Parts: sequence; C-alpha cells; structure tokens
Amino acid sequence: MIPSHVTIIMDGNGRWARKQGEERLFGHSNGVESVRACTEYAVEKGIRYLSLFAFSEENWNRPEAEVSGLMSLMLKSVMDERETFAKNDIRFMVIGNREHIAPELLSKIEMVENETINNKRLTLIIMLSYSGKWDIQRAAELYAKDYAAGCAKDFESYLATAGIPDPDLLIRTSGEQRISNYMLWQTAYTEFYFTETLWPDFRKADFEIALKSYESRDRRYGLIK
Ligand code: FPP
Repeated sequence: MIPSHVTIIMDGNGRWARKQGEERLFGHSNGVESVRACTEYAVEKGIRYLSLFAFSEENWNRPEAEVSGLMSLMLKSVMDERETFAKNDIRFMVIGNREHIAPELLSKIEMVENETINNKRLTLIIMLSYSGKWDIQRAAELYAKDYAAGCAKDFESYLATAGIPDPDLLIRTSGEQRISNYMLWQTAYTEFYFTETLWPDFRKADFEIALKSYESRDRRYGLIK
C-alpha cells in the first residue's frame, strides 16, 4: 500500500557539507535537490501528502548567518518551483508559527499558497517555524476559548495540521532516531523509518527503500489482527 501521507525530518545537511570541507549552507542548498527529487517521486507514486520538516521553532537560535541563508534559500526555492507546481498539479502549503517568518518571505509563501490552492495531485507541506509543543499548546488555547463559549469542536481541528491526515510514514535521515519536537500529536500511529543516509544524498532510490519497508509493516492501531 502506498502511504497517503509521508513526512520527512530532513537531517544531516551540516555533516554532509563538513564532509566535503564546505560551509553548512552548501549542505542546505544541496538538500533542496533532495526536496525536488522526493517531491517528483511522491507525484510518481501517487502519494497525496508530502510534508517536510524544514525549520523548527528551535532552529531560530542557530547563528544568524545560517538562519538568514536558509530563509533566502527557502524564498528562492519557492519562487523557482512555481512552474513545477503548476505543471504537476501540486498544492503548496506552509505550516508553522507565521509570527516568526519575515514579512517578505511570508508574502511570497502566501502568494504561492493561493496560486496553488486548487491543485489536487500532491499537497507539498513545508513545516517552517514549526514545533509539536507549539502546535499542541496553541490548539489547547484555541480549544479552551471555544469551550468557554460553548462551541468547542474536535480537538484535532485546532491543530495547525487540521484537514491533513496524520502521517502514515515518518522518515528521518542521518542516523538520528528521535522525534525532536516534531508532530507529537499527529505521529501517534505513524510508522518510523530511520536511515543513515544524510539528507543531501537522499534521493529517489532511498525513498523507494523507505516505501518498501513501510509496505512490510503490520499496522494494528492498538487492535488485534
Ligand atoms: C537539517 O540538517 C536541515 C535543516 C535544518 C534545514 C533543511 C532545509 C532544507 C533542505 C532546505 C529547505 C528548502 C525547501 C524548499 C523546503 P542540519 O543542519 O541539522 O544538519 P546536521 O545535523 O548535520 O548539522
């Protein structure tokens, strides 16, 4: 079975760059090529949602040069990919704390989100300025407000990912085996796949191996089969 939603913690760009004797940003810009390859592969395989952890709330504390380099890379990539989105019927979305995103980048993001809002084949979600605890805390605050007003809805509808099915498969590259404050609520029944491959080296063949591993899993959701 092809998973409906695959989410990826793209890790190891810095180590990849260091191995080549280059600056960390060189790793990030090569990481963008992996983003392209994985997006293409997701379209080919009929995956409906691909979400990518691009920047956490904690990442704002990295050195200013790396943060601004990453944001420029994000801005450039979003603008460069507009044609690909149109051609491949890809909806583009960003999920995260928008209060921290610079207005110039945010306005471009919103423009491309609006431009692609009716695209149906794949929803590509960039998790930017996102953290799982931020998401749950914010949802709890919104829920409490509605609860007090007597109009509370299902808790999940207050999460930043409302309307998007929970990930079926989570991939983390670079050998780390942890969740790092990512989608804490949404990964309750997600299958995990860890690989030693560093993100800039993670391409279609690696994605295919991850999907093979997913296919062999027996998902029981706490039940007996
Ligand atoms: C983790 O590697 C990677 C990031 C924090 C950034 C990921 C961002 C990109 C690949 C660019 C995103 C672009 C688009 C269009 C989504 P790391 O820096 O933590 O590496 P390390 O663990 O080896 O230091």
